[in-house]
Amino acid sequence: MSKQTKFLLNEDQMPKAWYNLQADLPKPLPVVLHPGTMQPVGPDDLAPLFPMSLILQEVSTEREIEIPEPVREVYRLWRPAPLYRAHGLEKALGTCAKIYYKYEGVSPAGSHKPNTAVPQAFFNKEAGVKRLVTETGAGQWGTSLAFAGGHYGLQVEVFQVRVSFDQKPYRRAVMETYGARCVASPSNETVYGRSVLAKHPDHPGSLGIAISEAVELAVQRDDTKYALGSVLNHVLLHQTVIGLEAMQQMEMADTWPDVVVGCTGGGSNFAGMVFPFIGHGLRGGPKPRIVAVEPAACPSLTRGKYAYDFGDTAGMTPLTKMHTLGSQFTPPGFHAGGLRYHGMAPMVSHARELGLLEAVAYKQVECFEAGVLFARTEGIVPAPEANHAVRGAIVEALRCKREGKAETILFCLSGHGHFDMASYQKYFAGQLSDESYDEAELAMALAGLPSVPEPA
Ligand SMILES: Cc1ncc(COP(=O)(O)O)c(C=O)c1O
Repeated sequence: MSKQTKFLLNEDQMPKAWYNLQADLPKPLPVVLHPGTMQPVGPDDLAPLFPMSLILQEVSTEREIEIPEPVREVYRLWRPAPLYRAHGLEKALGTCAKIYYKYEGVSPAGSHKPNTAVPQAFFNKEAGVKRLVTETGAGQWGTSLAFAGGHYGLQVEVFQVRVSFDQKPYRRAVMETYGARCVASPSNETVYGRSVLAKHPDHPGSLGIAISEAVELAVQRDDTKYALGSVLNHVLLHQTVIGLEAMQQMEMADTWPDVVVGCTGGGSNFAGMVFPFIGHGLRGGPKPRIVAVEPAACPSLTRGKYAYDFGDTAGMTPLTKMHTLGSQFTPPGFHAGGLRYHGMAPMVSHARELGLLEAVAYKQVECFEAGVLFARTEGIVPAPEANHAVRGAIVEALRCKREGKAETILFCLSGHGHFDMASYQKYFAGQLSDESYDEAELAMALAGLPSVPEPA
């Protein structure tokens, strides 16, 4: 049994409900504020953006929320996702730690993002919506919503961050194959996009700007809603299928993690993997260490302020309390586009404030080095975002080696890097540098955080 490599669940072992950490939090989440009035928002305030079923999930404190059977039917195309024991990586590191990874790259889009794209498209379709508008950083989320929207006959429009649009032309081709329309952001299609281009014609774009463009279009038409690929509570909720399956697979492997690691952009794959473990610990189960790995070039959890901020750059979205670098901050154009976001999911931020998780930041070159070692020992070429989790797991495994501890390490391999080979080519050519952000810009962005009276 000790040499078993894959731990596979049957389709009927796929979770029937998502897990909601809000049910087990020792302290409730801070309220969300309206961008105009700065007063707490109610469900109706969010109705121009999202269907009511998703808004109710956003605020729910029920522990389990049923996964509708039509969503499970689509999930079955790739779920349950495999869990692997990384024998090759362990050997290469010479560690006594046992390393396991949950592989989310088996989905149609190649990452965890369809776990939420499918239910979001499903609930929008049920509500009579005809068109979805969104943003994408790495292209993974845009691809996922294109796939899910196409499945339910919805029109999908994607604002892709300019730097990623240029780096990854084939991502756009996949989105178009699924029937979506993809535009580089900042674009000339929105008032906000035009205002950014007027000041900076060569702006590399950012997730914050692309969100502003998508929200601007979504609120203009009754048949159109906005979909977000990370950050929000309902997105994190949908991703908990990752951790719920991993828990069953850890039992199959006859072990339990001492450490759980994930990469964080907006926090969705990380939360999806770790929230079920955190909740289990809060209800009296074992409490593994939980480690979030973020890019040193966009370090919201390790360098950001825990404060109320907008989710987008134009200030159109509601304000949430989160770890933020400031919504005016433009992260440098490094190669993990899905991690270039100024804020962190409010629920991940809250969990950090409650001491339920740790955070570390690594530079891009050391993460690519980890990804290449992983590819050579395990066979899968990780997405640049996922390389951060690989790096985090390797650091833990080397610590175990130094300390002579045979701990169990579990990490989320959130996606494959088949559309990211240009960045691997640059790494091999020695052309990847460790982009650092502009300290003065960060200071200005933090100084410009909206002043919000602390709600009672
Ligand atoms: C493969 C992959 N991993 C991780 C992320 C980061 O997003 P999140 O923090 O929401 O999981 C992305 C975002 O696009 C991604 O494509």
